Amino acid sequence: MLTGHERIDADHRHIFDIAHRLEAELLAPPEHSVVGEVLVELIEYTGEHFLREEAVMRSIRFARYDEHKREHDLLVQKVNALHRNFMDGNGDSPGEVLDFLRMWLTHHILHLDMELVRGVKAAGAPEETASAQDD
Ligand SMILES: [Fe+2]
Ligand SMILES: [Fe+2]
Repeated sequence: MLTGHERIDADHRHIFDIAHRLEAELLAPPEHSVVGEVLVELIEYTGEHFLREEAVMRSIRFARYDEHKREHDLLVQKVNALHRNFMDGNGDSPGEVLDFLRMWLTHHILHLDMELVRGVKAAGAPEETASAQDD
């Protein structure tokens, strides 16, 4: 599922790592699990990643910025809701959480992120300017 944009692909790999840890935690005995902490890590890292992608899109005046950003905002809301529900003790089942994440990761990356990187390449933008918000 590589887009061909080095920084974006590195971010995605990191997000998959967090998702795999979340999967392990969701399947662990509840008394030992740190699902809440891993969800916070997922929220924080995806937030940073989305800001980076949005900076890339602005740097090339990407025509479909609004649509892409809307989907980021929706995903942030959903992951925040997953975390809130989990902390309230009425979270979705592990299967539902994992299905949602798999759907999100694959659908968003395969469609919108791929399209974004095609836009970067078409604009002839060097990846460095397109990663302005690196930390
Ligand atoms: Fe994206
Ligand atoms: Fe992405």
